This record gives sequence, structure tokens and C-alpha cells, in this order.
Amino acid sequence: MERIPIFAANWKMNKTIKESAEFFKEFIYNISGIVDREIVIAPAFTCLQEIKAMLQKENSNISLCAQNMHFKDAGAFTGEISPVMLQEIGVKRVIIGHSERRHIFGEDNNFIALKVISAFNYGILPILCVGEKLEEREGNKTFKVIDEQLSKGLSEVKEDFLKDLVIAYEPVWAIGTGKTATPLQAQEVHEYIRNWFEKKYNLSLAKIVRILYGGSVTHDNIKFLMDCPDVDGVLVGGASLKNDLFTKIIKYDII
Ligand code: PGA
Repeated sequence: MERIPIFAANWKMNKTIKESAEFFKEFIYNISGIVDREIVIAPAFTCLQEIKAMLQKENSNISLCAQNMHFKDAGAFTGEISPVMLQEIGVKRVIIGHSERRHIFGEDNNFIALKVISAFNYGILPILCVGEKLEEREGNKTFKVIDEQLSKGLSEVKEDFLKDLVIAYEPVWAIGTGKTATPLQAQEVHEYIRNWFEKKYNLSLAKIVRILYGGSVTHDNIKFLMDCPDVDGVLVGGASLKNDLFTKIIKYDII
């Protein structure tokens, strides 16, 4: 089965409702007619509803994505957003375990695992982020870290759900630093992740699971990354904030 490439934008804590609406007016037009790849946008929570309405009005097939969620459906969790709330808006995907959540907000693998299960249970498809820190890479611990993040993060997930799972390999040292992993480095870890799914589950699942690369992706390096056999797309931060730059990334092999 062919893996449909994913081009995902993670806007982090950027863009107001007005700014995102402005982005979309032009962006929907820029990418119209593209049907062979999935385009995913993860704006701030405050923008989700407005953007959903815009996408519906324009009959756009862009997938709306949340940047995070809590695993409980409701309760005394000040400042959190529940899967039920995201479901109501009609969000298709959710980013779970982004390195900024792990390292700035202290989310650990066990907490992340609860979110992955919860997302699937509510029909919101998780993009689970994994990736090593610089000192872990330098200490030859990359595969160990990835193994732990996958093993713990997916520990309780029913196998039936996994065909809809997306993994984003984002080396922490490459995020927002302008230092992209070389295609060789990216491919090496992506291959490791695919083999991990084969060993832990089976070959057919390993062939289906999409693995995105993230970390300083730009229109200059996208082609080399997409040429790697196990890179099925990208998760883009900084370069996704500009309409023309993100469009160039999405259309890297078209224009
Ligand atoms: P970046 O961010 O493209 O700005 O490095 C990627 C990410 O954090 O998902």
C-alpha cells in the first residue's frame, strides 16, 4: 500500500485568528488542485474554529490539527483542552509529545502514552513526535531514546489503531536551530523506526506507518529529505509560517 506523503505545519504559539485567516485566504488558492499529498495545519487552539469554518466554506481538504491535548474528556485541569473539545470542532489530527512539550513543559513518556490512547479513542489521529537531544546523539544513545519513546508512548495502544498512526522524527538539536539532519542521518533513524514497527508488530504495519521528519525543514533541503526512502513527509515549524515558503515546500517536486 502506498504511503501518502504528509506536509504538516506546526505554527506553535504564532498567529492570531486574524493572521491565520489571512494566511489561509491565499494558501487555499496556492495549493488548490493538489490531491496526491495530505496537507496538515496545526494552528493555535484559538484559531481552530475559525479555520475549520473557512476550510468548510472553501471545500478544502486541508487537515486541521491541534498542537496538543489532555487525555481526559473533562475536569479540573486548568488551561488544558480535552479531546471532546477538539472533536466538537472537527479536528482530524493532533500532535502529541512534541519536544517542546517534553522538554519545556516536562511531559514524560507515560503522560504522552495516555494522550495517544485518548486521541485514538476519540477518533483524533495522533502525530507522535520522537527525537533525541544533542547530548544523546553524541553519546550514541539515539536509537535507545527512540526505542523508549516508541515503546512507552505506544504501550497501551490497540494494534488496530496503529495503521492510522503518524510518527514525526524530530531531533531536538535540529528544531528551530537551522541545523537540519543530513538525509543520511534522517534516513538512518527513519529506517530504524520502520524496522521497530516490523519487529514489534509486523511487516504490513511497518509498511503503512508514515514517518515524518521535522527540524529546520526549508524549501532548500526538502527535496533531499523527501528522496530518503523512509521519509514520508515533513513537520515544519518556522518555514510553515510564511505562505510562499510553505507552498514551495509542499510543491517541492512540482515547481
Ligand atoms: P522548525 O520546527 O521547522 O522550526 O525547526 C519543527 C517543529 O518543531 O515541529
